[in-house]
Amino acid sequence: MGAHFITGTGTDIGKTWLACALLRHWRAAGRQVAAFKPVLSGFDPRQPQASDAGALLAALGREVSAAGLDAVAPWRFKAPLSPDMAAAREGRRIDFGQLVAFTRRAAGVYSCATLVEGVGGVMVPLDDTHTVRDWIAGSGLPCVLVTGSYLGSLSHALTALEALARVMRSGIPGDGAGVTAIAVNETPGSTVALDATLEALSRHVAGIPLVSIARDTPQAGVARLAELLCPETV
Ligand SMILES: Nc1ncnc2c1ncn2[C@@H]1O[C@H](COP(=O)(O)OP(=O)(O)OP(=O)(O)O)[C@@H](O)[C@H]1O
Ligand SMILES: [Mg+2]
Repeated sequence: MGAHFITGTGTDIGKTWLACALLRHWRAAGRQVAAFKPVLSGFDPRQPQASDAGALLAALGREVSAAGLDAVAPWRFKAPLSPDMAAAREGRRIDFGQLVAFTRRAAGVYSCATLVEGVGGVMVPLDDTHTVRDWIAGSGLPCVLVTGSYLGSLSHALTALEALARVMRSGIPGDGAGVTAIAVNETPGSTVALDATLEALSRHVAGIPLVSIARDTPQAGVARLAELLCPETV
């Protein structure tokens, strides 16, 4: 049982929310947890607690300090843009090799109750030649794909899975280990029912567990996902 990479169909889909919910669930069960958001754009140093790294640190029960931020989110950029653009604004670039090495080290912290949140969706550029997909593959981590239940989410989820499958089937050593689960995080106010989204998706994704995260009663889905990623017997 290893760490998991939390990716999604796009930005604002609920990756941080779900990661925090999983961390709190595991902590309540007495598990040792770790979490990372290695690449963070839109970071406001005056309000670190409002960032993804701040949310993860709080869910870990850790202080939102400079040391905590450096440990959890070493690549922080101010502009709320894709990481390649946000880095360029500061005359910087993300060293892909260093990012993969950091993630591989991070993944070893506490076996399965360790989460690494990506950035935006699967195909977000990190630099001129790499995307989040390459990062997942290079890290060798299995992932959770977070999607929604809005109209259009089926195509977004299946497109993301296709993109992931391409690197995972490539046979390159260190490639990602696969998709452990798809978390369907209910989109508030959607014209499409959550159950209908799960049912439709299930017909197209044989063999990958689907987990339903209902807005008003998320705990059952969070508990199921927590058990899929890191069974209580581990
Ligand atoms: N199941 C949920 N219940 C309540 N609020 C939620 C839920 N899922 C997401 N949210 C809220 O929706 C917003 C976007 O979610 P979140 O920040 O987790 O997205 P993200 O995928 O991590 O985005 P990013 O790409 O910026 O990292 C946040 O305000 C979050 O608290
Ligand atoms: Mg996030």
